[in-house]
Amino acid sequence: MQSIYLVGFMGSGKTSVAEKLKEETNKIVLDTDQLIVEEYGLTIPEIFEQKGEAVFREYESSILKNTPVHDAIIATGGGIIEKEENRKWLKENGKVIFLQTSWDEINRRLIDDQSRPIWNNQSRDKQKLLNDRTPKYKEVADIVVTTDGKELEMIVNEILSQI
Ligand code: S3P
Repeated sequence: MQSIYLVGFMGSGKTSVAEKLKEETNKIVLDTDQLIVEEYGLTIPEIFEQKGEAVFREYESSILKNTPVHDAIIATGGGIIEKEENRKWLKENGKVIFLQTSWDEINRRLIDDQSRPIWNNQSRDKQKLLNDRTPKYKEVADIVVTTDGKELEMIVNEILSQI
């Protein structure tokens, strides 16, 4: 079976959904951010601070293309769809699930978050970023699952019934 790639904005629940899917399917779960940290030996904030976003995006593309295209569940970083080459790669290689979450819900979930450099960058308009990215998530998605007001179990059941 093709690997499942979870895409969506920061705070859409990709990591939690991946972990729950692991319990239900016994498949290997990977996370592109975690793979980047392991490969390059820096945390995500350190990469943004020391190397900049463009370098982070290069790392992210390289990691994505080395993920196993069969039998795994892969949570991706919220910006994975920024690069056209990544969108093309995902469309060709993955079963892609877009977790769609509203702006209000994302704000509620990330209110105290300190770990995400883009979320914590006051000069970035995050609502605009969500609006700009949404068509790109949809472009790569085989399945769209809305997450507002749903328990984790319900989201996972929706995914399992559609793959
Ligand atoms: C990013 C999202 C983060 C991480 C990095 C950049 C983004 O992942 O890859 O901070 O550009 O939206 P999550 O979506 O898991 O927070």
